[in-house]
This record gives sequence, C-alpha cells and structure tokens, in this order.
Amino acid sequence: MTECVEASAAAIARAGAAIREGRLVAFPTETVYGLGADATDDKAVARIFEAKGRPRFNPLIVHVADAQVAEKHAVFSDEARKLAATFWPGGLTLVLPRRPETPLSLLVSAGLDTVALRVPAHEIAQALLKAAERPVAAPSANRSGRVSPTRAAHVMAELGEAETLAMVLDGGPCRLGLESTVIGFPQGIPTLLRPGAVAREAIERVLGRPLAEADAGSGEEGRASPGQLESHYAPGSSLRLNATEAGADEVLLAFGPGAPKAKTSMNLSTSGDLTEAAANLFAMLRALDAEAQGRAIAVMPIPDQGLGEAINDRLKRAAAPRG
Ligand code: TXA
Ligand code: MG
Repeated sequence: MTECVEASAAAIARAGAAIREGRLVAFPTETVYGLGADATDDKAVARIFEAKGRPRFNPLIVHVADAQVAEKHAVFSDEARKLAATFWPGGLTLVLPRRPETPLSLLVSAGLDTVALRVPAHEIAQALLKAAERPVAAPSANRSGRVSPTRAAHVMAELGEAETLAMVLDGGPCRLGLESTVIGFPQGIPTLLRPGAVAREAIERVLGRPLAEADAGSGEEGRASPGQLESHYAPGSSLRLNATEAGADEVLLAFGPGAPKAKTSMNLSTSGDLTEAAANLFAMLRALDAEAQGRAIAVMPIPDQGLGEAINDRLKRAAAPRG
C-alpha cells in the first residue's frame, strides 16, 4: 500500500529522491493532484501510463520551476512568452515545439513534435520540483477516464494499490479544483485545446485577439489535444444536465441560490460563484457518486462564461456515453 503523508520538508525530500529513482509520486498543485515522474526517464514516464491504466499514450504535461527552465525545452513565440509572463506560475499549460536538444522523454509528447509545459504555483509542487532536480511529467492522479482528484484521499482511493506509486504528498484540497487551461499554437495561431482553470476571456484580453477553437478531428488520433476524449471525467453514476428539478430517483448537484428540493443534494456554490463552483466540482461529483447507489445525478445549469466554460466542458464529458 502506498503511503500518504503530510507534505513536510522531510517528506518532500524523500519524494524528490523517489522521483530520481524512477518511481511515481502524487502531489498537490493549485489545479488538481498530479501523478508525477521524472520527465527525462522513459521508463518512469511509462509507469505513469501503466498506473493510470491509460489505453494509449496520450501526451503528458511537463511541470517545470519557471519560464526560464521551460525555454530550455521548447521554442516560445512572442505570444507564448506573453502568456507565460502573465499566467505563470498558475493554471495555464502551453503546448510548444520541442527543442531538438531537450532531454525530455519522447513519451511525454506521445510521438508529437510538441511538448506541454506548465509552471505550477503550488508551494508543494514547487518544492517537489526543486527536490527532484528535474522536470516532472504529471497527468491528473486518477485512473484513466475518471474524475480528477482534488484531495489526497481521492488519489489514495484510485491509485493507493499501485506498486510503482511511492507516496502521496498530502497538501489538503486544491485551491482551483479544475485542470489547467491548455493553449497550443498550431500554424502559430493561439488555440484553446482544453478549457480550464484560467478563463478564456482572461487569455484573450492578454493576447488582444480571440482564441481559435481546437479542431475536434474525427477520432482520438486526429485531435489537437489527444487527451480530450468525449467520455472522460466519468463518475460511476449517470448524469442528467441542465436539470431544473431532481426526480424522486435522482440526487442533485445544485448551483446558486434557490436550488430545488432533493433528498440528497450538494451545492457547487449557493451564492452562484463560479470560482467556488470550480473548486468544489470534482469533490462533490465524487461524494454524490458514492451516495447515488445506482441513481442518476441531476445537475443544474451553469452559466457558460468565465470558469463556467471549463465546468460545463467537464460536466458534458462526465455525462457522455461511456466508450
Ligand atoms: O492541471 C493540470 O493540467 C493537471 C495538473 C496535474 O498539472 N494535469 C493534467 O494532465 O490535467 P492530463 O494529462 O490529465 O491532461 C493533459 C492534457 C490532455 O488533454 C492532453 O491531451 C494535453 O494536455 N496535451 C499534453 N501534451 C500535449 C501536446 N503535446 N499536444 C496537445 N495536447 C497535449
Ligand atoms: Mg486527466
């Protein structure tokens, strides 16, 4: 059984050593918990896919300490630099061309000539990067296709049995609670590959132009962001979106004041605050899923602006038929 420890300085030092030995460490970031490995070690990166039970090699986000380190691994355009200067450290991931001389494993790019880079703001994530002395590849620390973890206990519930997972660093609940926004630059055009913790509007304001939409492509292979499968972030229960009331056989995920009555319900934000709703989303989906016992989860409508875009994206995927 994997050990789950409070992220003391001593624990972080041990976690850094485990990463250098090619083992996996789960750690908190301001978005969600990540399942980390040495991003320069092919075998260590392969262990991530194995532990998550990923059906194929989707590319992973590489976490680095700052933009200067990021520039050693990828080629930044002026616009990429502007976004990095504004949103790093934080919940933004940039997909950029790999530098030929980068020591990053090819597996983190899953055969693409680009790499996804992020500078996390979380103190523990930063301390781990320092202790590991190398970039850390980390997808969300859940089993493939499941809801992302925003608490150490979520990670333990999903991956606690994984032999390759040396430890889970407990840093409490994640502040933002939604995965990072992923921006790529196909043909040099800033493109929203995945809505997330940084709202589209904030990015467009900095760029002074709208973001292009990712081409959905035909299959997983054709997608600009191959991890964006239709059914993803799935709880065990089925979801009914845009519900204005809960049926007798449903549990309710509410939003805002004036939620309808239900025997079992949780409210993402009683005041209708989207930041609070984002932070609560995955934990409440998990909690309701555990209580639902075969019943469906009715979800109230969420406004589609700001962080609402990312919340609705995750809800739509959670509601999609399982493939
Ligand atoms: O907040 C987050 O982003 C968390 C924390 C741990 O940093 N990580 C995370 O990683 O959500 P993951 O692996 O679950 O999602 C990575 C996303 C996927 O949608 C993947 O397709 C996309 O980033 N991605 C990664 N590398 C890419 C690349 N080279 N080209 C296009 N998309 C890429
Ligand atoms: Mg994920």
